[in-house]
Amino acid sequence: MKRLTLIALLGLALPAFADRMPLPANTPASFKTECASCHLAYPPALLASKDWQTLMGGLKDHFGSDAAVDAKTAQEIGDFLSSNAGSPSKLGNAGNPPRITQTARFVRKHDEVPAKLWRDPRVKSAANCEACHRNAASGSFSERDLVLPELKR
Ligand code: HEC
Ligand code: HEC
Repeated sequence: MKRLTLIALLGLALPAFADRMPLPANTPASFKTECASCHLAYPPALLASKDWQTLMGGLKDHFGSDAAVDAKTAQEIGDFLSSNAGSPSKLGNAGNPPRITQTARFVRKHDEVPAKLWRDPRVKSAANCEACHRNAASGSFSERDLVLPELKR
């Protein structure tokens, strides 16, 4: 068997690569309209179900913004996030209010980022994924898609 074919087959056999997190095909339209106007439509797998529920319960004061939605929409988005959420033991504590960027998993995946880059005016906040991951909106967190020159090796 050719080596590339073998790699392709292995790729299919693995559940998902950590650097590819496209939104699932059944993502409700409300998630994109209500949760992607101020920032990226964050991949649901990056927070645990319990943390998504906490976050959805406090949208009226959402990190200083009013992100409230009607009850039916909140239910729809909450159900979607919960059913696609990540494993609490793999992610670690997300704090309160919960943040993807506070989980142990996020911190570990970003240990190569120079501390001063988080405060760089081009980045502003760790929550601003697209400052570094050019194709985050299409679910790519691959090394190839990193934009800032400081991150290129
Ligand atoms: C009106 C603007 C606005 C809307 C709408 C909004 N958010 Fe946010 N969100 C924010 C701000 C501001 C922050 C804090 C960003 C920062 O710290 O840089 C934030 C942060 C977050 C974080 C934490 C990011 C981190 O640091 O890990 C999550 C998760 C999140 N939002 C999810 C959602 C979800 C789910 C929805 C839809 C129900 C939503 N947001 C809608 C403004 C918004
Ligand atoms: C300051 C730049 C920067 C910001 C902002 C940033 N990242 Fe990253 N991210 C990196 C770097 C650098 C890596 C390591 C790349 C590597 O070695 O593959 C990384 C890795 C990752 C990985 C792991 C990819 C893999 O191969 O396992 C994920 C997932 C990820 N980031 C998601 C996010 C999310 C979600 C956000 C926003 C909440 C974010 N990142 C914000 C720079 C950044």
